Amino acid sequence: MKTLLILNGPNLNLLGTREPAVYGATTLAEVEAECVGHGKRLGYAVECFQSNHEGVLIDRIQEAGRRFKGGELAGVVFNAGALTHTSVALFDAISGVKPLPVIEVHISNVHAREAFRHHSYLSPAAAGIVVGFGTDGYRLAIEGLARKDGAT
Ligand code: DQA
Repeated sequence: MKTLLILNGPNLNLLGTREPAVYGATTLAEVEAECVGHGKRLGYAVECFQSNHEGVLIDRIQEAGRRFKGGELAGVVFNAGALTHTSVALFDAISGVKPLPVIEVHISNVHAREAFRHHSYLSPAAAGIVVGFGTDGYRLAIEGLARKDGAT
């Protein structure tokens, strides 16, 4: 059984209590449990990881690239939080592990928010983008990865 990695960046550990009008009331632990269940139904093991630190996220993407090459990992669902709008280093990390498919997820519709959220450094390197579906977006991204992997 192949693995999918759900990667969350800065402040997403606060889901459920952080600006619930924008991000909803579901906690990260609940989102992760839903991802595990959804992955299982599609025939994948799901691994979840969150960090507030850019370098730690880069390390995880590099590791994911090695695991993808080894045939053990099918792809990554990545909500990079605010680093989406600032991080050339994360763009380079995702570009550097191609063809590992990385699906960029945003819970909120970033394009309907402040102008500084309209630009993503990650989108040009992403295999797909899911924006504005609330925390359901993680499951939609899993679905997309499974299709790219040929499982559905
Ligand atoms: C976010 C959107 C980002 O602009 C913000 O900095 C986040 C969360 C989202 O999921 O909607 O931390 O990625």
